[in-house]
Amino acid sequence: MDPLAERRLRSVLEHLLGPESNRSVRSSPTSEAYEDVVQVPGDFAKKSLLSSRSQYEQLYEEAVTNPDGFWGRVAAGYFWQKLWDTSKPVCNYNFDADKGRVFVEWFKGGFTNVCYNALDRHVLAGYGHELCFLWEGNDPGQSAQLTYSDVLKKVCQVANFLRSKNVKKGDRVCIYMSMILELPIAMLACARLGVIHSVVFAGFSSESLAGRILDCQAKVLLTCAAGRRGNKLLPLKDIVDHALEICLRDGNLRVETCLVYENSFALPRQKVSWVEGRDIWWQETVSRFSVDCPVEWMEAEDPLFMLYTSGSTGKPKGLIHSVGGYMVYAGFTFKHVFDHQRGDIFWCTADCGWITGHTYVTYGPLLNRATCVIFEGVPTFPDAGRWWEIVDKYQVSILYAAPTAIRTLAAQGDEIVRKYSRKSLRLLGSVGEPISPKTWRWYYEVCGESRCPVIDTWWQTETGACMISPLPGAWPMKPGCATLPFFGVQTVVLDQEGKELHGPCEGYLCIKGAWPGIARTVYGDHSRYENTYFKIWKGLYSTGDGCRRDADGFIWITGRVDDVLNVSGHRISTGEVEGALVSHPHCTEAAVVGYDHDVKGQGIYAFVTLSHEATPSDALKKQLRDIVRKQIGAFAAPEVIHWAVSLPRTRSGKIMRRILRKIAARQYTDIGDTSSLADPSVVEDLIKGM
Ligand code: PRX
Repeated sequence: MDPLAERRLRSVLEHLLGPESNRSVRSSPTSEAYEDVVQVPGDFAKKSLLSSRSQYEQLYEEAVTNPDGFWGRVAAGYFWQKLWDTSKPVCNYNFDADKGRVFVEWFKGGFTNVCYNALDRHVLAGYGHELCFLWEGNDPGQSAQLTYSDVLKKVCQVANFLRSKNVKKGDRVCIYMSMILELPIAMLACARLGVIHSVVFAGFSSESLAGRILDCQAKVLLTCAAGRRGNKLLPLKDIVDHALEICLRDGNLRVETCLVYENSFALPRQKVSWVEGRDIWWQETVSRFSVDCPVEWMEAEDPLFMLYTSGSTGKPKGLIHSVGGYMVYAGFTFKHVFDHQRGDIFWCTADCGWITGHTYVTYGPLLNRATCVIFEGVPTFPDAGRWWEIVDKYQVSILYAAPTAIRTLAAQGDEIVRKYSRKSLRLLGSVGEPISPKTWRWYYEVCGESRCPVIDTWWQTETGACMISPLPGAWPMKPGCATLPFFGVQTVVLDQEGKELHGPCEGYLCIKGAWPGIARTVYGDHSRYENTYFKIWKGLYSTGDGCRRDADGFIWITGRVDDVLNVSGHRISTGEVEGALVSHPHCTEAAVVGYDHDVKGQGIYAFVTLSHEATPSDALKKQLRDIVRKQIGAFAAPEVIHWAVSLPRTRSGKIMRRILRKIAARQYTDIGDTSSLADPSVVEDLIKGM
């Protein structure tokens, strides 16, 4: 087995095996949770697109047994400039690396364009006057709205600008912006030209941004003067300048143009640093371009975008999503998972810097001609009633949010929620991390007044769109449970030997067979894609998550089974944080684990050993946190830094994270077997050093 795959497998087994194995860093659902069934509220069920589990089962079966018929029909709902080769299977794939190159192809030979399907198709059908985006700024009182025609024109102008800079099909453009309307507009402009966009979350530091720019060799960078989140001002242009300096220093700069949106409400023009010849003001320039721009017809398997995500090892991977499969899957999941119907106002609170913002702020909703709210700010600014104020203001009917934000609001009490009507709401969604039954109940009972189903949707950057989720209306919910796989998604639960388990069980979550939305490769490193996802369990896509399946066949996600952390819904690699810490001259070693955190879901706990000349101090802790902020971003800074004389290692030198997780959780009496440690006394020293 390839060494990388082997390392991952070892780490998975360490989680799954042994009596004290910390299968997930969070607790698994209790058996009472399995019994806690919440029926779909009657009024909702009467109008939902799907009304029974048997209806779902029929469709599910068809998607698995007749993918040509099922997915062919779904795909036919979009415009194809040339239909895929219908004489061949709609999908062709190989998940078994022993049989050759791992690959996935859907709708091969078809030509389409995602931007055309998201905008032109609706405008040409006479819906251009319908509202596309409703934007709410960070500060109350700042808002804007755009119809489908407006968005199309703006997208064409940006696309024409990019063309004028000689950006062509297959080139990469990096987008580093806060949640202003120009962010999804920029994404769509790239999609129109067949240019691969790489959106980098505006919370990443200049060093992270530089790494991503260099990796994808971006030609153009799109940004804005500054970002605003609550009371904080993020100096995005400064961060960009610094990132481009780093790229230049590394001698590899390809960015010739930096287009800067002047959001003067955040930062006045005079305060924005400028590099003549490279930097261009967005408003002054883009508005001069034509509002018509021809579409680049793309082969279904051409790349649409790339998005970096963290794994347990190595630098972030630029996952590539394809034009045809992603479009069909994003659009179809949006419709069914959110039960989207005409007249709905949809609000996904995610940032476009993450996959949720790609699929359910930008592509999925627009492919369905939905009206979407985009919010620049945070749920607690100026106070914890902001979300509900926005819900009432725009009459939001579907709200899709992350548990970390829901927990933050729950901690502020019910009263502030009840100050607002929220009568427009009919469906609530959750994504990105496990939602505990308690938080689920609060969301359902207080925010949705037991009138709106809550859908707990499980998926990943790699999967493109939802994979396991209630289809609201079709079957009862269980608080904290993602329930059943989406049409055609074949979930498999494995034991530690890789044997498929049947019936109620607990183990490792894998997927059999290809679905249209799966990422096709890692940019520039296909073997990393194969090693990370397909070599751990032969012939299957390995998710990195553990799960339980109950007697109803419902899937309960128990959390990551590898060394990936999920902090406030942000996926963070332990290896990356460790790498940042050890770059401090006084840090000789670092081991990072997650621990349960009331608001963030998981917090970051770092064990750090210092060089002999260093003295532990709060100032040093601050320096270490700062170095992580600088190299990755503020969201990755460890909450706890624990000085360690040394780290617990096996005789072969491997750090036993299982023990560190127990110490971080303060479960000292439940450390488990330490006999395989090279020096068991290390554990006592660590506990004493608390
Ligand atoms: O561990 C799972 C967790 O988030 C991981 C994927 O993170 P990312 O690629 O950043 O995508 C997040 C948004 C889709 C998964 O491997 N996760 C995601 N949704 C859930 C979840 N864990 C539990 N329940 C969920 N609903």
